[in-house]
Amino acid sequence: MKAEKILVIGANGQIGSELVEALVHRHGAARVVAADLHTGFCGSEVAFAKLDVLDSKALRALVVAEGVTQVYHLAAILSATGEKVPLQAWNLNMNGLLNLLELARELLAEGRLLRVFWPSSIAAFGPNSPRLNTPQYCVMDPTSMYGISKLAGERLCEYYHQKYGVDVRSLRYPGILSSKTPPGGGTTDYAIAIFLSAKKREVFECFLSQDTTLPMIAMEDALRATLSLMEASPEQIKIRSSYNVTGLSFSPAELALAIRQRLPAFQIRYVPDERQAIADSWPQSLDDSRARADWGWKALIGMDQLVDGMLA
Ligand code: NAD
Ligand code: SER
Repeated sequence: MKAEKILVIGANGQIGSELVEALVHRHGAARVVAADLHTGFCGSEVAFAKLDVLDSKALRALVVAEGVTQVYHLAAILSATGEKVPLQAWNLNMNGLLNLLELARELLAEGRLLRVFWPSSIAAFGPNSPRLNTPQYCVMDPTSMYGISKLAGERLCEYYHQKYGVDVRSLRYPGILSSKTPPGGGTTDYAIAIFLSAKKREVFECFLSQDTTLPMIAMEDALRATLSLMEASPEQIKIRSSYNVTGLSFSPAELALAIRQRLPAFQIRYVPDERQAIADSWPQSLDDSRARADWGWKALIGMDQLVDGMLA
């Protein structure tokens, strides 16, 4: 493996905190730099930089000073929070990505390669997208500001690749389930909060209705997909907008049943709020056959392993 220098932006977040650990495991702590708007990264002994990705000069200075060859850009405002602060969500989600793509374009013109990972989301689909086994290519008419920014971001990624040759890669993540760092304000967050309530023997108030099926993935699988995509040869990456990937699909009622099989006293109440409308506009399951065909993706973690892992 070529010696990479890897920058993770948004390293304090749900995904960043675990991605940094996975990268350290693969490349060694000296090859990874964690960056976030807020200090407080308390993972491995990696260098930490306080960075606002909206500050393009600071971003360039950090990338050049550290000799960075790969960036994982995870700073964003997620779906539920995004509906509370839509202009901030648009600004961060679009201009953070644009700053990075512009930097990659400029560096390429100077003869330096910068490989970029940026996640899209199931939120890029909308009410007129097929909801079952949603294909890679179909109508996409997102209704949340978050989803609109993700779809626009996908178009920017493909544009920068086709027009300038920027090596940018992306996945449309489903809801990611993990227990290390709390999620950052998404519509799929109920599927993490439910485990905390179950462990505390509390009645869980679910903000989605019992039959709201959504695509999900265990963090371990999400990280494996991310690293596989970034380690694939450029020729394998045939889609430069964003690849569908998925783990499994379930509804709150199905997840509650799986928890009750392990903790029989567990109770749940359904109190749908404004996040229901967001979830109702998203796919229930995804067709990730292009990721399987192009770079060998396959999810490994099913319902039983997921629930056992989260409870543990
Ligand atoms: P998160 O909210 O947990 O973490 C985001 C991090 O970005 C935070 O630590 C925050 O401090 C940092 N940040 C915010 N503004 C910043 C700025 N201006 N400069 C630098 N850092 C800044 O989010 P996450 O769940 O880890 O998601 C990471 C990415 O994955 C996002 O693009 C998100 O849309 C995408 N995604 C996540 C999920 C999921 O289920 N977690 C699903 C689909 C897509
Ligand atoms: N988990 C994310 C959210 O709910 C999906 O992008 O916002």
